[in-house]
Amino acid sequence: MSKVNKTTETALRVNQEKLVQNLRFSSTNATTVLGEALQNSRRAGATKVEIDFVPETKTLTVRDDGCGIGDYQTLFTLAESGWDAETIENEMPFGLGFLSALFSCQKLEVESKGGRVSMPTAEILAFKPVKVTPWVCCPAESRFDGDVCGCGSENVQGPDAEGVYDCLECGIFFTAESIGNRCWGGVTTVRLGGFKPDASQVASCLSELAKGFPIPVIFNGNALQRPWALDSGRAFIDTRIGKVHLKEFGSGESWTNSVQELQICLQGLPIYRTKGYWRGDSMVNIVHLDSRQFHARLPDRDKLIDEEDVVKQVKSVVQKEAIAKIMALKETLSPAEFAEGYETLKLWDCLALLNDVPVIPKGVLAYLQHYPIKEGCSPVNLEPAGLVTREDVETGKVTVAELEDIDETGAVPWMFAWHKDMRVYDNPLDKGHWLFRHLVDFTKQAVQVEMVGETHRAYFNGQWVCGDAAFCEKYRLAFGDDFVDIQGDSMYWEDRGLFIVPKGDASGCVVRQASSYFDEHDNFNESVKDEDEWAFEKFVVANTSTNPAKALQRLLPSFAGCPKVFGKCFTLALDGEGRVLSVVEAEPVETRQAA
Ligand SMILES: Nc1ncnc2c1ncn2[C@@H]1O[C@H](COP(=O)(O)OP(=O)(O)O)[C@@H](O)[C@H]1O
Ligand SMILES: [Mg+2]
Repeated sequence: MSKVNKTTETALRVNQEKLVQNLRFSSTNATTVLGEALQNSRRAGATKVEIDFVPETKTLTVRDDGCGIGDYQTLFTLAESGWDAETIENEMPFGLGFLSALFSCQKLEVESKGGRVSMPTAEILAFKPVKVTPWVCCPAESRFDGDVCGCGSENVQGPDAEGVYDCLECGIFFTAESIGNRCWGGVTTVRLGGFKPDASQVASCLSELAKGFPIPVIFNGNALQRPWALDSGRAFIDTRIGKVHLKEFGSGESWTNSVQELQICLQGLPIYRTKGYWRGDSMVNIVHLDSRQFHARLPDRDKLIDEEDVVKQVKSVVQKEAIAKIMALKETLSPAEFAEGYETLKLWDCLALLNDVPVIPKGVLAYLQHYPIKEGCSPVNLEPAGLVTREDVETGKVTVAELEDIDETGAVPWMFAWHKDMRVYDNPLDKGHWLFRHLVDFTKQAVQVEMVGETHRAYFNGQWVCGDAAFCEKYRLAFGDDFVDIQGDSMYWEDRGLFIVPKGDASGCVVRQASSYFDEHDNFNESVKDEDEWAFEKFVVANTSTNPAKALQRLLPSFAGCPKVFGKCFTLALDGEGRVLSVVEAEPVETRQAA
């Protein structure tokens, strides 16, 4: 017998109760409900939202003057919205927001167009029927034959089994249907009892949510600040991604003070901000995304979908707007004023706008303050130079050098640039900038070194640096047709491992051209540096002094710490290697002079 496999059918089904219970864990924050409440009031067309929180009773009340909830079933139907077609098309409401209210408290009370609801949230979440009490008060005019007066009082009894109310003030009988909604005051009130978040959470969360919100948010009687709102008085530009406000930068100081920090809002609520240091709510560019194009994550819209991609798009639009604004500004500023905004141009990646400006902004060029030394790659020697004009450069009044870090290249080109009082190209310009046609580029061609009147060489053996030293009259550094003769400053010639010591320099500074004295842990070893410097100084004296007694005097330390030798006279004998052979006390100087 052959086995026959029968085809069966199955289909997607939902365990409603479980799903709803589990959605409790879908929101990121306990305060999600606050954003949802603001959202609903705005969608209802309210002119403002009022929120009160009473910590003693843990009651949160949200009131708005919007269209009101006519049919409570829309409120209690998940994944369905009762908003008008336009709102649904523009905002894609999820129909889930109210659920966060149910999860956030123990008791729910709503008063709106359709009547009143009051019920423990646990029962609502258990799918128990929700009783809607219609608005009842005595109709102001009679509804039944024979009744002559109506007083509008809410002091009514009922309804009885037939749904009939009895006004205790004037005694007329009426039904809820007969009075319609006439007694609803036009305010929708949502009251959450046993609200979970505490007062400070509510306050801080609301103040954040209100910042970009289109309608006033009044918390415990105070209107919250709305610095990012479209009606905040800031100028917003319509762009393809939505509305963009660029933090003001115009002529004057603000031109140099642009920011790239970004605050993105969606449907009036904050959804993204650039990471890092936040300089305050007004030091920011604001974007209200077009909510037909951009969407946020279910259920609480706390994060953009495809965030990285959206942020990239936003940044590129904001940049385009910034550059357009900068270009317009350029027309109104003098070259020097425009160059003032160098940091702003750098920030918006539009340095090319400087290519036809006949001045080089401050800070692009630097000058060498003092004798170049290795600095562990943090050139404190480079001091920003002031404004340099194109004319200065073209006439050769100012020469600009392209130099690599002295810790990498060694001191030779730096010595040349320093002695020639060149400016160093230190901060970036666009590669099409006119300056590059005039740069003296030490990175491509080496500076030639030539010693003049070399007397002799000796080996210096320091702690961190050692090598031959060449003693000479002077040395010449040559680059192209240009040269400089140096007599007063020693130089470490890295390529040769050679200290060049001209006769005018008796210091030991040159050891700092051979080492930065920073160790592999980035610590500066000052005492080693001091010792090497001192040793080199002694080494130079010993190698250059023509008078041995004077050489010896320079080499001796101070004896201030040893009173025993004060006023004494000694005869010192050294051997052929410079080692001390003997020290013998001699007759004091005064005695000899007296004799
Ligand atoms: N403050 C309000 N004013 C008028 N209608 C409201 C209000 N809050 C909620 N509603 C109604 O309840 C429905 C469900 O609300 P909600 O769960 O927040 O979902 P959504 O806002 O995504 O539609 C809304 O679509 C709307 O019809
Ligand atoms: Mg909603």
